[in-house]
Amino acid sequence: MSRPIPIASPFQRLAALLDGETPGLSPIDMTIGEPRHKVPDFVGPVLAGALADFGRYPPIRGTNAFRSAVADWLDRRYGLQTPIDRETGVLPLNGSREGLFFAAIEAVKRRGAVGGRTLVLLPNPFYQVYAAAAEAAGAEAVLLPAGPDTGFLPDLAAVEPALLERTAALFFASPANPQGAVASLDGWVGLIGLARRHGFMLFADECYSEIWRGAPPPGVLEAADRMGDGYGAVVSFNSLSKRSNLPGLRCGFAAGDADFLAGWAAFRNVAAPQVPLPVQAVAVAAFADEAHVVENRRLYDLKFAAAEARLGPLFGAVTPPGGFFLWLDVARFGGGEAVAARLWREAGVKSLPGAYLAADTGPAGGNPGADYLRLAMVEAPDRTDAALARITGVLTR
Ligand SMILES: Cc1ncc(COP(=O)(O)O)c(C=O)c1O
Repeated sequence: MSRPIPIASPFQRLAALLDGETPGLSPIDMTIGEPRHKVPDFVGPVLAGALADFGRYPPIRGTNAFRSAVADWLDRRYGLQTPIDRETGVLPLNGSREGLFFAAIEAVKRRGAVGGRTLVLLPNPFYQVYAAAAEAAGAEAVLLPAGPDTGFLPDLAAVEPALLERTAALFFASPANPQGAVASLDGWVGLIGLARRHGFMLFADECYSEIWRGAPPPGVLEAADRMGDGYGAVVSFNSLSKRSNLPGLRCGFAAGDADFLAGWAAFRNVAAPQVPLPVQAVAVAAFADEAHVVENRRLYDLKFAAAEARLGPLFGAVTPPGGFFLWLDVARFGGGEAVAARLWREAGVKSLPGAYLAADTGPAGGNPGADYLRLAMVEAPDRTDAALARITGVLTR
């Protein structure tokens, strides 16, 4: 189950795969999870009004206004009975990625000696920073299968208690990237119980929490709140990148376990990037506004409807409950790498082989992403539909 994980950008691996190949049509990029919907109207005026604050170093714990805006939003979004503490329950992040990275270092330090190598658990497939974080923290990364057999989420019941006793942190994404699977409230409750019993941190990567179909995904803080014993052992990571189409703003937050956040803030204060004050001002406006988020979901709904119409006849239902990726099993078309190369050569569609988002699990297990292709539905609806039509054309030729 555990072995060193090669850390490489999926996009660099794709560049190598497509090196020397010419796109068959004008390119449409479906690789990067970068929302191309409109930047919300309020961003420009808020930034303009706060320009002078680029002249100040921002405090690592963020402004009172930032922490309050995030806590207000979390309380509303998850109907929390125990409000998130406005002083100690929230930290700003320079995007959730850096937070996920630095958090593992703090978790491993807090865990102390465990009688063997300290472990960090991650799903497979996974967002690459989890593995990089485990490596930087000097921990051993343990891959937990997250394929069709387990509903595309890791099954912690399959992990031996002895391993959990050596675990410093579990990275768990819901909605998951790349599969779009969503943890249930009971699922989160089970994970929190496990984390508390075995003394590890549950790092919930929830940056896709606002991109959903049907019902909003339950959150880890919501589950902790229902359990009624505070937010210990739990940190939720989220950001404006996906929710508010602001991946370039680099603004996110960590919220939850106040004790963990306090120790981590001391470390971050000498090691981590701060969030510029004008950027925090944008976040205050963004978390107070849901209209642009509702509009986003409407656009994603249109695109997933197009995906059902175009790809449904070939693949069956393709729409996941959360996130904005399609995760297609293309085994019968030759697997992810072969299909990605073909779509580029024949149709100018750039897609990501699933293998680049997962690690080999050894000779018996192979790579759990190898049969899959990830398509980011981030372009405008008409352009996305054009890409889907090209894909169907190639796969039915
Ligand atoms: C699963 C997952 N987590 C975290 C991130 C980091 O996003 P950001 O740093 O922009 O908040 C991404 C970005 O694509 C992601 O897919």
